[in-house]
Amino acid sequence: MSGSDSDFVTLQEIDSIAEAVRAKVDAKPRIGLVLGSGLGAVAEAIQSPMVIPSDELSGWPASTVEGHAGKLIIGELEGQSVCVVQGRVHFYEGFSMSRLAVPVRVLQRLGVSVLIVTNAAGGVNQSFEPGDVMLITDHINFPGMVGHSPLLGPNLDKLGPRFPDMSQAYDRELQELARQVASDLGIELREGVYFCLAGPTFETPAELRFLQTQGADAVGMSTAPEVTVARHAGMRVLGFSGITNKSSMDGTRATSHEEVLEAGRLIAPKLVRLVKGVIARL
Ligand code: HPA
Repeated sequence: MSGSDSDFVTLQEIDSIAEAVRAKVDAKPRIGLVLGSGLGAVAEAIQSPMVIPSDELSGWPASTVEGHAGKLIIGELEGQSVCVVQGRVHFYEGFSMSRLAVPVRVLQRLGVSVLIVTNAAGGVNQSFEPGDVMLITDHINFPGMVGHSPLLGPNLDKLGPRFPDMSQAYDRELQELARQVASDLGIELREGVYFCLAGPTFETPAELRFLQTQGADAVGMSTAPEVTVARHAGMRVLGFSGITNKSSMDGTRATSHEEVLEAGRLIAPKLVRLVKGVIARL
């Protein structure tokens, strides 16, 4: 593991990982997927999967959290070549933001142009229920706003611009496609803003009320850094939050990692259908 915010990943490091992947698998995936806590079931739908355990890739950030088995899976989904990152890592594990976005950089170098991200999130919007799936329409990258951006440090000019636009972090056309697919499949899709916090604590009631006033619909500890890097890379991004728990604004209910994982398992089949439906039409 590499610790501080000054652990800036270099282009050479990224390319040596991409090379190591190419040496194992001869594929040119166009679509990348990053799977969240308890949502690994999407990976089981991959056909002719070629699995690369993350510990075989030197420089790849290795997850330390239960429910986040680290591997890269390359195969086909709905006839399209895809590359799945299972077992993302988080800032709270001690990785620099630059390091934790390495998987997205490697996807970029493998040729991925569309990134689908999923996460487990707490429902801040009080009309959401555990088990809901939320289409992410935008995010608030709170750690990024206070200086923990994955783009901190020397800009890798070959990978993207110094000052990337974030006006359409989540691609509007892909959002519309997701709405159509959900409607065709009879899946009720919530929508809203994902608020990224550093974690690892779940929120206090006062923090939740703060998030609510700031326009958050869901809260979690991932995704925004990866999407920031994906946009720097020029990828089109689609994001879904599986709402695993309902935030308690008055502190009358506790939140646990176990309930997040358990709800994730219930949400996963719905997400698999949605993601497959979207990919089939890409
Ligand atoms: N808060 C933060 N992260 C989360 C939550 C939550 O309530 N649920 C799942 N990930």
